[in-house]
Amino acid sequence: VQISDNWPGYSLDLFTYPQHYYGDLEYVLIPHGIIVDRTERLAKDIMQDIGDNDIVVLCVLKGGYKFCADLVEHIKNLSRNSERFISMKVDFVRLKSYHNDQSMQDMQIMGGDDLSKLTGKLSFVFHLCYFYLFCKDIVGTGRTMKVLLNNIEKYKPKMIKVASLLVKRTSRPDGYRPDYYGFEIPDLFVVGYALDYNEHFRDLNHICVINDHGKAKYRV
Ligand code: IMP
Ligand code: MG
Repeated sequence: VQISDNWPGYSLDLFTYPQHYYGDLEYVLIPHGIIVDRTERLAKDIMQDIGDNDIVVLCVLKGGYKFCADLVEHIKNLSRNSERFISMKVDFVRLKSYHNDQSMQDMQIMGGDDLSKLTGKLSFVFHLCYFYLFCKDIVGTGRTMKVLLNNIEKYKPKMIKVASLLVKRTSRPDGYRPDYYGFEIPDLFVVGYALDYNEHFRDLNHICVINDHGKAKYRV
């Protein structure tokens, strides 16, 4: 789904959203219901590609948790209502690269398992040749995904796919493209549906564009 640069979005008055964000947002870019419906279709596409393989879903925290949870739910439902049952494992990685609305040079990999443990686990998993799916909120510059995939390539996984809810239309056409994505969006800073601005707005259901007031209020 392509959202064009001149798409005005939906007025905030047409939907409900937490009162503590009144005055901090510009407009609704993607309402929650459309996110969920689109995710269901991605689940169907992924199911088709999985074939008879088992799947390991690797959720990229924190921003990916909503998309990952909904995607896993859809895959479960589709699988339950079909002839073949897909065995699924879920795991988590955490990366942090943003300060305010700027992508930072050095990337922190943190939380849960440290990277050495993680790569050990990955080599084990790839050895069993699962269908491996990374689940991400948004691909902006694509730098995060490149770092992650570079760390994994040495294990020569048979099947590794990346699903991202959003892809940002950056100025560079050579940018990284995930295997599955829900929406291609203009080069805007968006929040909601687990996407944050300095840890705020994850509790907003819709994907919205933050305004200058919101940026100033939550700047660190
Ligand atoms: P990239 O390395 O520029 O592709 O950005 C990767 C990460 O930055 C994403 O996983 C997000 O966590 C965060 N990010 C990028 N763009 C946005 C945005 O518009 N809103 C919130 N987070 C973003
Ligand atoms: Mg973030």
